[in-house]
Amino acid sequence: MKKIVCNTYEEVCNFGADIFVQQLKKKPDSVLGLATGSTPIDLYSDLVRRAKNGEVDFSKVRTFNLDEYYPIKASHPQSYRAFMEKHLFSKIKVESSNFLNGEASDPHAECAAYDAKVQKAGGIDLQLLGIGVNGHIAFIEPDSSYPLGSYLVELAEETLIANSRFFKEGENQPTSALSMGLSPIFSARHIMMLVTGPNKAPVIKRLFENVIHTDLPASLLHLHPNVTVVVDRAANGE
Ligand code: F6R
Repeated sequence: MKKIVCNTYEEVCNFGADIFVQQLKKKPDSVLGLATGSTPIDLYSDLVRRAKNGEVDFSKVRTFNLDEYYPIKASHPQSYRAFMEKHLFSKIKVESSNFLNGEASDPHAECAAYDAKVQKAGGIDLQLLGIGVNGHIAFIEPDSSYPLGSYLVELAEETLIANSRFFKEGENQPTSALSMGLSPIFSARHIMMLVTGPNKAPVIKRLFENVIHTDLPASLLHLHPNVTVVVDRAANGE
């Protein structure tokens, strides 16, 4: 696991965008794993800007998003599908975008079908991740054991608190989600995690103790051969 330290949030996003551009230069029909949350917002606007000025072309790309609240309507403004539409897919053209369906009647069948789709696509070329203050990646919340495949997960208290900022008063915040599991995430040839802000400094410190903590899902990434963690100085505890 490699750590890159940038000065600011903007630099982290710019570095991340460079990695995406390099990936698409190498393989225009890449399979990309995408994340939501506050962290990648400027990365997505940077990529949109670069697509509009012709620096990068997403038209052959297939994308798979990491997670979705469950249950949630796709049209709900806080669904991750709506988030991606707003920040990326309404602005650039991709070959296909794939999501775990927050309206699926059988969440387990939905997860199994999603994993099969990732596998059929040949796995992920570049996987973007963020990290929760509690060390979650995707919505793989701290636990004593982890399913390999994608699964229906009850969100941790810390996650519910952290994400409540996105929900308006009276808007029902789902307490569960469908999350990509470790197998599809580990299918990625390159995993890039972006981490910014002082509230992430404690979790980054623990992650770089270079120990696999069973209650720190992100620490499992030490077992992957190609992980780049891009942090700003604040998240690096400086
Ligand atoms: C979202 C996701 C989550 C976030 C994490 C950090 O698709 O997979 O793991 O990356 O919760 O969120 P922010 O960036 O809002 O701090």
